[in-house]
Amino acid sequence: MLTFERILQRIESEIAGLSFTNPPASLYEPVSYTLSLGGKRIRPALALMACDIYNNGIEKAILPALGLEVFHNFTLLHDDLMDEADKRRNKPTVHKVWGANTAILSGDAMLIEAYRLIGHTDPSCLREVLDLFTRTAAEICGGQQYDMEFERRNDVTEEEYIEMIRLKTAVLIACALKTGAIVGGAPADEAGHLYDYGIHIGLAFQLQDDLLDVYGDPATFGKNIGGDILCDKKTFLLINALRLADEGQRTTLLDWMGKEAFDPADKIRLFTRIYDSLHLKELTEERIQYYYEKAMSDLAALRVSPDRLMELRSVTDRLMHRKS
Ligand code: IPE
Ligand code: IPE
Ligand code: MG
Ligand code: MG
Ligand code: MG
Repeated sequence: MLTFERILQRIESEIAGLSFTNPPASLYEPVSYTLSLGGKRIRPALALMACDIYNNGIEKAILPALGLEVFHNFTLLHDDLMDEADKRRNKPTVHKVWGANTAILSGDAMLIEAYRLIGHTDPSCLREVLDLFTRTAAEICGGQQYDMEFERRNDVTEEEYIEMIRLKTAVLIACALKTGAIVGGAPADEAGHLYDYGIHIGLAFQLQDDLLDVYGDPATFGKNIGGDILCDKKTFLLINALRLADEGQRTTLLDWMGKEAFDPADKIRLFTRIYDSLHLKELTEERIQYYYEKAMSDLAALRVSPDRLMELRSVTDRLMHRKS
């Protein structure tokens, strides 16, 4: 079986081999820019690892895995526009460099390229893989819509939040694992367990992302710290801050939410201080651990020999403690 490092090397060389040379260059330059900036490549890596578990090889999963990574990068172009994010992977975001219209259209071109790549999946399982991907892509649109609508609401429940992050983030990770399992020839129930595992690590992954948005090191995280605070994102931290705050803290939070003109640094400092005093970092870490344990029991349900799962377990461990 391949190590995670070997799998990552393969993904990087495959991505470098994708060519976006059709005219107009102005449409495809942002695509190459985005794909060349790296990122963790966690979705294609999980797809290839899942395939390797059942197939003892990754070839059949290469094209769909690449498609999923291109799709993920497409969602980032539109997400950064929607979130008004200036920085990603330590570089200016596409809409900052080329403008909103290019971010929309180059994103669309990436979505099309993603379908092209996934369309090259082995015909024996193409229908199943395409159906799964299409369902997943639609779910992500729903999750992103909830994410935006929640910015304007102050009564979002934890349950609504978990469903929103399941849709915007977890289903793609789950889809990657299940796609790898399907093309690798896994029995349906095994592919289902890997999907559930993906949902649980995906929920933990987004909780960690919310945490890093407040407490991360900007140099390693590659995104501006406090972006979620500035746009009143109903993250796990803010929802619990609103639930646990005393009268004074609650008034402060509600006063600043929805404000149009303010000093960004002030708002970030104020919210972070409230999060600190309510120990929300620890609360979030506990919840990450909770989903991690659920993910581990999904893996325990698989019928493959434990040594085939070692690499997946170690990648999951590292993901739970990621800083970028
Ligand atoms: C960012 O995904 C979007 C989220 C779901 C939080 P990643 O953290 O996987 O981004 P890259 O691809 O590694 O940059
Ligand atoms: C991203 O959630 C989910 C998708 C891109 C579908 P975030 O908005 O939290 O991701 P980042 O923090 O910008 O990477
Ligand atoms: Mg964002
Ligand atoms: Mg977003
Ligand atoms: Mg985020």
